[in-house]
Amino acid sequence: MTSELGRLIAHRIALTGPISVADFMAEALGHPRLGYYRRALPVGAAGDFTTAPEISQMFGELIGAWLAERWLAMGRPAFNLVELGPGRGTLMADALRATRGTPGFHASLRLHLVETDAPLRALQAQALAAFAPTWHERFDDVPTGPLLLVANEFFDALPVRQFEKTAHGWRERMVGSPDGETLTFALAPGATPFARFLPDAAEGTQAEISEAGRALAGAIGARVKRDRGWALIIDYGYDSGAGRSLQAVRGHKGAGILERPGETDLSAHVDFAALAAAADAPTFGPVPQGDFLRRLGLLQRAETLKSRASAAQRAAIDAASARLIGKDRMGTLFRVLAVGDGTSPPAGFSEAP
Ligand SMILES: C[S@@+](CC[C@H](N)C(=O)[O-])C[C@H]1O[C@@H](n2cnc3c(N)ncnc32)[C@H](O)[C@@H]1O
Repeated sequence: MTSELGRLIAHRIALTGPISVADFMAEALGHPRLGYYRRALPVGAAGDFTTAPEISQMFGELIGAWLAERWLAMGRPAFNLVELGPGRGTLMADALRATRGTPGFHASLRLHLVETDAPLRALQAQALAAFAPTWHERFDDVPTGPLLLVANEFFDALPVRQFEKTAHGWRERMVGSPDGETLTFALAPGATPFARFLPDAAEGTQAEISEAGRALAGAIGARVKRDRGWALIIDYGYDSGAGRSLQAVRGHKGAGILERPGETDLSAHVDFAALAAAADAPTFGPVPQGDFLRRLGLLQRAETLKSRASAAQRAAIDAASARLIGKDRMGTLFRVLAVGDGTSPPAGFSEAP
């Protein structure tokens, strides 16, 4: 049994023909009434997946310290503090608590949250009430002016097109519906325009392109160059070339990509080289999340928290640290990219001298 949105998409395909995987993903996540990121409460133990800020307060605290340091380096301007896809608001709440001690930082900021999901907006309103945030549907709606931006696990939710190299060249993977009810994958019979962005490769090679991710990185790069500022993009992904990575998760378990759209999380690995190129501005990294957090002082912060914790809490802090910075865990699966108007690497992007 598919979902209500699955039936709507199959109906649309029956009327107008197969759609790209990117169009399917945009509908499944963003349909105004039934899309997953319009109506779900996905993040956290009771949702479909968990994220770094929900694992430990240390994550948001260290990002807060990074943002405050960048603000000082910019000369303490009035600025827009922007988060793309703030989830439950935990990262930003931790970052703002950790920056209380930076004189003038809170007084200089206006908080802007880019979020489509109504139940998550309600949680963000509770977590961040003291900072009177303004919500936006899109980054382009954030007012002009100097900015500091953070996006954790946001780019992975942006639609991707998928391709496969065949004996006849690159072919796009499409979503069709042979019976007007079931959704199935099929390769487009002829070349589609995006195939020309792909390099030559062996038959059977898979590839993904996120036009939405590239367009957003370009918009962020243009802003930081024009208005001054820095953006920190954190996500799981590759330095370059993502193969076929689109995956579906429901209730903390893997699911079929075409199964129950609107009730299933869809995400794809982020191609950081493509984002950096599209930003067309100075970029630093990507560096593994573990290196980034260690350089910002995660281990020292963990020791401080443990010094006033019970034995059970100390064990939980150690487990969270291992998850955030461990090899073959978030420490190496996730990467961090900075886009900014500077020439030397910000904190976390090189070993301290
Ligand atoms: C994977 S969650 C990450 C949440 C949070 N950053 C964290 O680390 O816990 C993705 C977030 O981006 C939001 N989101 C996804 N696609 C979006 C879009 N196209 N426009 C605006 N917000 C979106 C979701 O509602 C959610 O808040």
